Amino acid sequence: MRKFFTATLSAAILFLSTTSYAAQSEIILPPPNMSDNLSVMNALNQRATSRNFVDEDLTAEQLSKILWAADGLNRPESGKRVIPTANGVYSVEVYAVTREGIYLYDPANHKLNLIAEGDFRSVTTTGQSFVGKAAVNLVFVETPDAWSTAKHIPPREAQISCANVTVGAMVQSVALAAQTEGLGNCVRGSINREEFAKVAKLSADKNILLAQSVGKCAAK
Ligand SMILES: Cc1cc2nc3c(=O)[nH]c(=O)nc-3n(C[C@H](O)[C@H](O)[C@H](O)COP(=O)(O)O)c2cc1C
Repeated sequence: MRKFFTATLSAAILFLSTTSYAAQSEIILPPPNMSDNLSVMNALNQRATSRNFVDEDLTAEQLSKILWAADGLNRPESGKRVIPTANGVYSVEVYAVTREGIYLYDPANHKLNLIAEGDFRSVTTTGQSFVGKAAVNLVFVETPDAWSTAKHIPPREAQISCANVTVGAMVQSVALAAQTEGLGNCVRGSINREEFAKVAKLSADKNILLAQSVGKCAAK
């Protein structure tokens, strides 16, 4: 009997240690929960960079809140979003890099579409080891093609500047939403752009602007 239990336990441990996290081709996010106990002023007062991430996945509700805060629709009737953008042109896409894979956020349908399966979290950094532990690393990518249908097309330099302002709003929005869930975040300019462009299959015109690690942190 003891032999049986030992064998079963060993098999279970082996299974757990070799289990890979299969990526879903799409993740339909639940609607974001708008109720929390933190006022905007208190969230601003608590905003700070965290780097002591623990390698634990977020709940679907937390992931939903983070992505919605980054780039979600808050006026679905007009297609307008939480973050402001120049000329109403949404030229910044949000990639979510989790343990399971690289996903592209689809704001209109509030879902994540799989781009590449596998754990590429560490590929989003030039060497900061905490990045590989953060539950989700957001990568903000400018897609200049978004201007193609605009009435007025600004010079390239102005397009980049507008996209950077939008990303600034996105990261602050995410930082506050993370705060309401007790999650830490770190805005990051140091990204392995060449490698990430490869694994995320980015076309040559796309421009990686910024990243942000979000996840549970160890108690201080
Ligand atoms: C544009 C930008 C790029 C940043 N890049 C990094 C980075 O690559 N790695 C990192 O650990 N922190 C990065 N940070 C976080 C800053 O180090 C941090 O905000 C700063 O030290 C102030 O600390 P606080 O956010 O706790 O107030 C970046 C912040 C910004 C705004």
